[in-house]
Amino acid sequence: MSVDVIVLAAGRGTRMNSALPKVLHELAGRPLLAHVLETAVGLPGSSLSVVVGFGVDQVKARFPDNTIQWVLQREQLGTAHAVAQALPQLRTDSKVLILYGDVPLIQRQTLDNLLTRTTETSLALLTVELDNPAGYGRILRDKNNVVRAIVEQKDASPEQLAVREVNTGVMCLPSACLREWLPRIEPNNVQNEYYLTDLIAIARDSGFSISTCSPASAIEVEGVNSRAQLAQMERRYQLMLAEHLMSAGVGLADPSRFDCRGQLTCCRDVFIDVNCVFEGTVHIEEGARIGPNCLIADARIGKDVVIKANTVIQGVAGKAGIEIGDRAQVGPFARLREGTTLSADVRIGNFVETKNSLLGPGSKANHLSYVGDTRVGENVNIGAGTITCNYDGVNKHETHIDDGAFIGSNSALVAPVTIGANATVGAGSTITKAVPPEHLAVGRGKQRNVQGWPRPGKNEPGEN
Ligand code: UD1
Ligand code: CA
Repeated sequence: MSVDVIVLAAGRGTRMNSALPKVLHELAGRPLLAHVLETAVGLPGSSLSVVVGFGVDQVKARFPDNTIQWVLQREQLGTAHAVAQALPQLRTDSKVLILYGDVPLIQRQTLDNLLTRTTETSLALLTVELDNPAGYGRILRDKNNVVRAIVEQKDASPEQLAVREVNTGVMCLPSACLREWLPRIEPNNVQNEYYLTDLIAIARDSGFSISTCSPASAIEVEGVNSRAQLAQMERRYQLMLAEHLMSAGVGLADPSRFDCRGQLTCCRDVFIDVNCVFEGTVHIEEGARIGPNCLIADARIGKDVVIKANTVIQGVAGKAGIEIGDRAQVGPFARLREGTTLSADVRIGNFVETKNSLLGPGSKANHLSYVGDTRVGENVNIGAGTITCNYDGVNKHETHIDDGAFIGSNSALVAPVTIGANATVGAGSTITKAVPPEHLAVGRGKQRNVQGWPRPGKNEPGEN
């Protein structure tokens, strides 16, 4: 049977106190809704409908993917009403899986368990036992332990409130049943809402069995209703990622001060110090060490590389990632921007910015430089304060610095320009034309020494 997934995401999320729809708030750098969609999209033969209401345009714009069927729920009249809006999208002979845009961490295994429990005569319901079930719908079972109904917190008797098994809201049932049963649901409750949970009693009355299962961890079914809950979930999620890395042989100075907001893969014996943030797709080879307070995005970091404290490495996904060759050393306080490739054994020191540049093996820029749109050969030394002047106010131009060249401190290389192999640029030079190989180029005002020059004295009062 094919699977039709319906994700409910129409709610305003009042408690977030935000102009942004709740499902667009981010967990680990991705909207809450993105987490659910990523998990659901892998189900074989699935179609995906997302029910939206509050901030519909914002939500759609954030997910330009055209495989999503957007369903508008104009007024939020309850979870059953929300699902009903998606009925026209459903195939006749499918299993319908109902998920929530604000319950981001549901896992594929859990969905598979629900799908196998769903048959032509059985509805599958995901429930969980909570120490504090406050706010959730309670699962009511008869004396044979068979699920009879769900009662919402606001409609429950004191006896029912004591039940610790709760409804996660996630369920799966044949589309034909959903079509038949949804119209029978009425808003006869304290909130005057159409409750999806009423399906359970209807299914029972129709001779269906209710099969329940639970997620591997309760975090899978936790919803986000407030910023405090979101922050808590973020921390716990990061801790899970950190533990996963550690068990794969990665050293973390403090797993509670680790933040991955993308895809991070590490080989064994990588070490990551405190307060590092990883974004986009980052891969780190064996033995590399990342110092404290680094931001690393869309980069590949080679073996035994050392990234020192407070370094920002910021590639751009897809088009201009960053490559750092084996044993290179970067930082502290370096900034590698999009399109930077450092070959093996390169050294980039403090307050050096690189962009769209290739540095050949063993080359160095150790202090206070800007290296942009530049091709640097092997074993080049770029002295402190060197600037590649790549921008003429309109266009960008390239600088070439060939193997073995030495660029003296505080030089300005006005692009387009080439410094030949083993050439030397004298400190303080402004280089505007090509320097041939092996030559010395000096382009600065000549020093003049004036003998006996009187220093100015201090003005007397009344004098200017
Ligand atoms: C719902 C369940 C409750 C369960 C809890 C789990 C019902 C009646 N109750 O309660 O048993 O324990 O989830 O978290 O189903 N939504 C819409 N349109 C609507 C109403 C809701 O899209 O008209 C979406 C919301 O955006 C939200 C989700 O459905 O993501 C749940 O709605 P909410 O009102 O929060 O239900 P709960 O009261 O939490
Ligand atoms: Ca809720």
